[in-house]
This record gives sequence, structure tokens and C-alpha cells, in this order.
Amino acid sequence: MRALEPWIAALTVVMAVGGWMGAVPAAAEDLPDLPGITSPDEAPEGCVSCHTGAMSLKNKLAALKHRNIDGKVEVIPDDCKSCHSSPSTRAVASTAT
Ligand code: HEC
Ligand code: HEC
Repeated sequence: MRALEPWIAALTVVMAVGGWMGAVPAAAEDLPDLPGITSPDEAPEGCVSCHTGAMSLKNKLAALKHRNIDGKVEVIPDDCKSCHSSPSTRAVASTAT
């Protein structure tokens, strides 16, 4: 254990110089909520973390009387952009078929 003492002393100096001692508690309070980075990610698979089964987007969109997207959307939400891609209100391309 004795051999570690110089290292511990050196590390303490480095931390003090770097401002870590004071910064760590303050930073913990100031951290923005970034799911998956500063807090648990409750939707690690994106939309389909929640939208499966009865909650599937296929069901949700059917309830909204959305046009049929069978065969057009494999990857959610990336493939939704094939129609929903411009910055307009609903971001629906006028060429949507
Ligand atoms: C954390 C869970 C969660 C995630 C992640 C999530 N949703 Fe939802 N979504 C919901 C809930 C809850 C509702 C409301 C369901 C209801 O009304 O029955 C909803 C409703 C919807 C609806 C229907 C809206 C309506 O007016 O009925 C759509 C469309 C939708 N989500 C799309 C998406 C898309 C696209 C993504 C990914 C970019 C996404 N959601 C990610 C939970 C989630
Ligand atoms: C084939 C083209 C196409 C694809 C693919 C598509 N949409 Fe749409 N979507 C439309 C069109 C067209 C409208 C109607 C726009 C309007 O009324 O202004 C619409 C409307 C919507 C609305 C509004 C519905 C309402 O009545 O309020 C939601 C929400 C939506 N789409 C979600 C999605 C999601 C989520 C995906 C991917 C899973 C998706 N769409 C994929 C064409 C598409």
C-alpha cells in the first residue's frame, strides 16, 4: 500500500488543479437530461420501443385514417421521411403516392 501514496498525492493535485474537486458536484446538478447519456434511455429502440403490438404505428396510423404504407416503411421513422421530409407544416411531400 505504501507504494501507492505518492500516486494518490499526485492524483489529488491533478484533480485540484483541474478543478474537478469543486466541479463534479456542481456539474451533476447542471447536467441537461440527455436520455441514454445523463439519464437512462427509456426508448433505446426509438419509436418501436413504445410502438409495438397494439401500440404499433401501423395500428396508430390506421386509427388516424392514414394512407396505406404497407411495403413502403421498413425502418421507422427513417422510411416515414420518404413522404414526410420537407420543413412544411406536416412535412408531407406533394409527390406522396
Ligand atoms: C416513450 C414512448 C414513445 C415513443 C418512444 C414514441 N411514442 Fe409515439 N406515442 C406514444 C404514446 C403513449 C402515444 C399515444 C397513444 C394513444 O393515444 O393511444 C403515441 C402516439 C403516437 C402516434 C399517434 C398520434 C395520434 O394522434 O393518435 C404517432 C403517429 C406516433 N406516436 C408516432 C411516433 C413516432 C414516429 C415515434 C418515433 C419518432 C414515436 N411515436 C415514439 C409513445 C411513444
Ligand atoms: C406513402 C407516403 C407516406 C408515408 C410512407 C408515411 N406517410 Fe404519414 N402521411 C402521408 C400523407 C399524404 C398524409 C396526409 C397529410 C395531410 O393531410 O396534410 C400523412 C399524414 C400523417 C399524419 C397526420 C395524420 C392526421 O390525420 O393527423 C401522421 C401523424 C403521419 N402521417 C405519420 C406517419 C408516420 C409515423 C409514418 C411512418 C411510419 C408515415 N406517416 C409514413 C403520407 C405518408
